[in-house]
Amino acid sequence: MRNIIMAGNWKMNKDAESTLLFCKGLAEGIRDLSAGVKAIVAPPYPFLGLALEALKGSAAQVAAQNVSFNSDGAYTGEVSAPMLASLGIPYCIIGHSERRQYHGETDQTVLSRQIKLASSGITPIVCVGETLAERDAHKTAQVILTQLKGCFETITISDPQSVIIAYEPVWAIGTGRTATPEQAQEVHTLIRTWLAQRYGAAIASDLHILYGGSAKPDNIRKLLEQEDIDGALIGGASLTLEQYLPMLLTANELIKARNPK
Ligand code: 13P
Repeated sequence: MRNIIMAGNWKMNKDAESTLLFCKGLAEGIRDLSAGVKAIVAPPYPFLGLALEALKGSAAQVAAQNVSFNSDGAYTGEVSAPMLASLGIPYCIIGHSERRQYHGETDQTVLSRQIKLASSGITPIVCVGETLAERDAHKTAQVILTQLKGCFETITISDPQSVIIAYEPVWAIGTGRTATPEQAQEVHTLIRTWLAQRYGAAIASDLHILYGGSAKPDNIRKLLEQEDIDGALIGGASLTLEQYLPMLLTANELIKARNPK
């Protein structure tokens, strides 16, 4: 059974004070949210502890935005999976297109990071997505399948809750140009079909696949109404409670409509 996961990727935004303010407001704002909607915030590394503290006792959870593919040692500037685990961080984004574009991330390094996260009990949010040139060249399916094969090459999945996949078309990130619900659904179906072939129908049907790319309060409903869209990875619109909270409330309405009791 899949619920809705609404993850906010803050990227390199906010400071200590605004992290605290946001998280306190979030804890307050989600008090009445159904258990079927999971709010996750991914602040920059220095503010993970603050966010954890401010969200303690609330239903919201905290994610890191990246992790080292090494465990420890002389890797200046890096943060390891055991370090994140020692803070109690339950999720970590890996393979984001901005890391692929600016920091040399490849499917191979995503795979290595995934292995480190798994051994620390942290759930990865694995990002895949095609560029505009690839979409225009009708290579979307090929690109997504290549990324999936590479990122999951040696990964076994026995618990569908132990991994989250995010489909983020690069051309929709920060551009205001969202994939249409139909375009997103088509790729989500492709991903779920690949998961079923690779890991079996039961894993595929329970694993969450999020959409990311200019998700906003005014387009989130139609995206979440798609059969295979199980939530969103939200950039810009996750930075203010004015935008993020209404998106959580929309998810809440949809979950309640699905499970009326
Ligand atoms: P935007 O929502 O700002 O387009 O960013 C999406 C994203 O990259 C989330 O990881």
